[in-house]
Amino acid sequence: MFAVYAESINREDPLSGLVLGERPDPVAPDGWTTVTVKAASLNHHDLWSLRGQGLKSDLLPMILGCDAAGLDEDGNEVVVHSVISSPDWSGDETTDPRRSLLSEKHQGTFADRVVVPRRNVVPKPAGLSFEEAACLPTAWLTAYRMLFTQGGLKAGDSVLVQGAGGGVATALIVLARAAGLKVYATSRDEAKRARALEIGAHEVLASGERLPTKVDAVMETVGRATWEHSVRSLRPGGAIVISGTTSGPNLDDAMLTHVFFLQLRIIGSTMGTRAELASLVAMMDATGVRPLIDRTLPMEKARDGFAALQQGDVFGKIVFTR
Ligand SMILES: NC(=O)c1ccc[n+]([C@@H]2O[C@H](COP(=O)([O-])OP(=O)(O)OC[C@H]3O[C@@H](n4cnc5c(N)ncnc54)[C@H](OP(=O)(O)O)[C@@H]3O)[C@@H](O)[C@H]2O)c1
Repeated sequence: MFAVYAESINREDPLSGLVLGERPDPVAPDGWTTVTVKAASLNHHDLWSLRGQGLKSDLLPMILGCDAAGLDEDGNEVVVHSVISSPDWSGDETTDPRRSLLSEKHQGTFADRVVVPRRNVVPKPAGLSFEEAACLPTAWLTAYRMLFTQGGLKAGDSVLVQGAGGGVATALIVLARAAGLKVYATSRDEAKRARALEIGAHEVLASGERLPTKVDAVMETVGRATWEHSVRSLRPGGAIVISGTTSGPNLDDAMLTHVFFLQLRIIGSTMGTRAELASLVAMMDATGVRPLIDRTLPMEKARDGFAALQQGDVFGKIVFTR
């Protein structure tokens, strides 16, 4: 079958290890199912894999891709949940210490077919296209869990989203607005600030600019570059929910005095459960909210998508179709 896969690891030039070509058809073990991929979406995770982060060289060649929507063995339209937990694990899959994402230990979704545990598929509503549904399992699921599970946010609360252009950040803005929150967003880039307003932010600010009021929670994926601003933007008792550190994880000043004196909470968040993916899908179906797609490419053009993501020339998700 056709697949987009990592053949080698290269930290400096990740795209040099990317191959588009033929891979053997996958065989579903007992309790697993084969999904025929109709659309898959790209994440930074795929670039990190090519750099060897989260992917060991002894597992190469590895088909990349965490996210997909397609048809199960009975022809049902499904969305794939990318978090693969241990067979004997019950409860929140994201807290299984042995969990992995598709393309870390098991072959990923950038292919004609992908095999996943039967419990890892969620029905796709007819109102969501395959392209839209393929955006949900990583960036949008991460945003959903950050806001509503880890952040515990509800209609009427206020939230700041740092770094408005990223896949997770755009999902945060759209979902927060749909859920009735007051949404602030920052970006270094004026054009991205304008787009953030279009997709649902009530107010946008330059990175580091003082907010007109303190917020209940800040959604962090930028890390080092925005941390101080995040801490300063919170009301007493507020929370930072963090799921990524694009600008780096090391802080000059963690602002610990602010953290204890204002009784701030710092909460980590990673991906989401199958149940949260089902809730996200239901929320999109009920609200009519749709993922923001930067561009859709046939999977044969995947290299162009990887290059655009590497250059940061993206607002929303890059989707590959079969
Ligand atoms: N834990 C999880 O489950 C999970 C899931 C998905 C993603 N992630 C992580 O979340 C992070 C976000 O990923 P993403 O793909 O959504 O977005 P991304 O492309 O990594 O970038 C997010 C934003 O960071 C801002 N940024 C980058 N460098 C900056 C700097 N030096 N100063 C200020 N702002 C900077 C940019 O905002 P502006 O240009 O608008 O300023 C950019 O839009 C990544 O680190 C990713 O690995 C984690």
